[in-house]
Amino acid sequence: MKQLNIKNIVVLTGAGISAESGIPVFRSETGLWENHRVEDVCTPEAYDRNPALVRNFYDGMRVKLANIKPNPAHLALARLGREWKGGYTLVTQNIDNLHEQAGSENVIHMHGELMKIRCYEDYGGCGTVVETDRPQDPEQPCPNCGKKLLRPHIVWFGEMPLDMDLISERLSKSDLFISIGTSGVVYPAAGFVRSAKFAGAVTVEFNLEPSATKGYFDAGVYGKAGTTLPDFVDRLLSRGSEYISELIRGA
Ligand code: APR
Repeated sequence: MKQLNIKNIVVLTGAGISAESGIPVFRSETGLWENHRVEDVCTPEAYDRNPALVRNFYDGMRVKLANIKPNPAHLALARLGREWKGGYTLVTQNIDNLHEQAGSENVIHMHGELMKIRCYEDYGGCGTVVETDRPQDPEQPCPNCGKKLLRPHIVWFGEMPLDMDLISERLSKSDLFISIGTSGVVYPAAGFVRSAKFAGAVTVEFNLEPSATKGYFDAGVYGKAGTTLPDFVDRLLSRGSEYISELIRGA
């Protein structure tokens, strides 16, 4: 086994990292998300059909988020981002702001953010993104162009995820790729581990159970991220590449 010299870390999180904070994951038994069928609230067509239903759906989640707190897994990643001496990139599929609440900075939200609304380009808007912490008022004018075309700043099914060039660039330079709390069934996020592998990175997944892309991971740590991640971060920060070598040897 070649001597590892890990410098650049890329982390990808999914709904599972927020589960212990009380946010339901997507692929639960019911197949419903917050009692709605995904296609009724998470597509551009759903918004064209019934913008008020879609706005209300996200308004409900945004109001709930105000009382939801980060868990030890979010806090562990914030510590890793602060204390790791090399490159560190945190990409999340989640639209909640629990990484930020835990202290993580420069989080890449590839599926958008619940606490933001955007002047809808498809409707002739200017694309300006506005922070918000309240139910959306459809009459609110865009602060930049003045049009009343603000929509949830969420990437819906059928829309392009955000910051893909930046993410690809970071993956191409990664030495360690860590995936946390994602089932690995939704692309392009599910393909990130493959890109990291081709870049020569060591790959580790943290999940309740092996994900759909488990074959690309050099090691898997299965259990609740609120328990497994703080211990992992502690050992990574104190022993670095040596610990990772040990982890994958034992995999
Ligand atoms: N600790 C670690 N992993 C957990 C925990 C936990 N406490 N609880 C659940 N998980 C794992 C589950 O085992 C599951 O594999 O988190 C994963 C969540 O998978 P999904 O519900 O499919 O969520 P995610 O992978 O983030 O979905 C990706 O799909 O619906 C779209 O845009 C949406 O961003 C979302 C994307």
